[in-house]
Amino acid sequence: MSDLAPPDVYIWQMIEQRAREVFARYRFEEVRTPVLEKTSLFTHSLGDTTDVVTKEMYSLQDRGGRHLSLRPEGTAGAVRYIASGAEETANARIYYIGPMFRCERPQAGRKRQFHQIGLEAAGAPNPLADAEVIALQVHLLDAWGLKGSRIRLNTIGLPEERAAVLDGLREAIRPRLSELPEDAQQRFETNVLRLLDSKDPAVQEMINDIPTVTELLSDDSRAYLDTVVETLRGLEIDVEIDPSLVRGLDYYVHTVWEVVHDGLGAQNALSGGGRYRIQIGGKPFDGVGFAMGVERMIAALEASGVTADRFAPQPAVFIASLGEAALKENLLLMQTLRQRGIACEMELKARKIKAQMKRADKLGDERVIIRGDSELENGTFVVKNMTDGTQQELELPELMDMLEREE
Ligand code: HAM
Repeated sequence: MSDLAPPDVYIWQMIEQRAREVFARYRFEEVRTPVLEKTSLFTHSLGDTTDVVTKEMYSLQDRGGRHLSLRPEGTAGAVRYIASGAEETANARIYYIGPMFRCERPQAGRKRQFHQIGLEAAGAPNPLADAEVIALQVHLLDAWGLKGSRIRLNTIGLPEERAAVLDGLREAIRPRLSELPEDAQQRFETNVLRLLDSKDPAVQEMINDIPTVTELLSDDSRAYLDTVVETLRGLEIDVEIDPSLVRGLDYYVHTVWEVVHDGLGAQNALSGGGRYRIQIGGKPFDGVGFAMGVERMIAALEASGVTADRFAPQPAVFIASLGEAALKENLLLMQTLRQRGIACEMELKARKIKAQMKRADKLGDERVIIRGDSELENGTFVVKNMTDGTQQELELPELMDMLEREE
């Protein structure tokens, strides 16, 4: 888990601000759910055999003996919120920005506290709704200035078809099971779908010889996928159909996708999403959404030359005081400038002018306003341009004019 400070924080601020602008255009509204929730919320919605639930949650028992976990993702809490009736469930459209926690082995692209920007749109399965959310995601990537990402898309059908798909896969894999490594054999028993995205070469080779999930699905589910792809084509969005794409969480139905970027190395998924059905309070809840990993997004931006210092705040104005009387008057000047929207700073005790100029230089300020007894007497302000070293003496209206023009 890391601290986040300048200059890195500037790119985070840009990402969050532009995300809010894009979400507002698509009429999604922000919801902030707690980072700590009942453990059962996650086991029920994400699936109790998933890696996230079995190996990665930070779980604890509080003083009242309640079992709680730091949220490993945002969908479960968002759905709990929507289904609690706080929103009109039928068409809730919400987004979230915040930290998530997974106790994974830290490595490039995997952090124990990481951040997601995600959204959830409630509503019954509808390929157009899935396409709209994917289009929003592409819009976000454009707003952040990221180039070179790709969308991998697949379908995993409906829960009622799942048994047939799993049977079909098991039947095709069983004759070759003994060729597979032990953990893959275990997966075969517990979660055969997750075998499909294994990186193990023996598993990969076997997968090439067996039917894809899509081939094992019903005609209706294949038609659903076709409509998503056609709709996206109509929106001029390219996707790669990737039959090996399965997601690490159990709640998905129909469309699933990932956005990947080749600048990222092994953990190349910037974002994951899909349509889901979650049982909450005994009732099924349908929705579609995605979550982008902010750290990975920034790594991808940096790999393509977009760096944090580009988003640093504008240079401010420094105010230097010669003597106690000027120090007092400058406090009022500083307050006035700040109230008029001009960022400025000054030394709050009498110091030598040289020390004050040194500090202005260190702060990267482009202008220094200097006042001493004679300027106070004349009602003027000396303005030094730190870039070219020139100085001019101005009266208040001219000074304000100059500073406000630069804002
Ligand atoms: P996910 O694929 O588990 O999906 O996570 C989404 C994204 O979060 C990943 O693509 C990755 O960028 C980032 N991420 C995940 N784990 C880490 C980590 N340990 N360190 C850094 N980044 C990480 C979900 O969480 C679903 N809730 C997405 C969703 C929303 N599906 C429907 N609605």
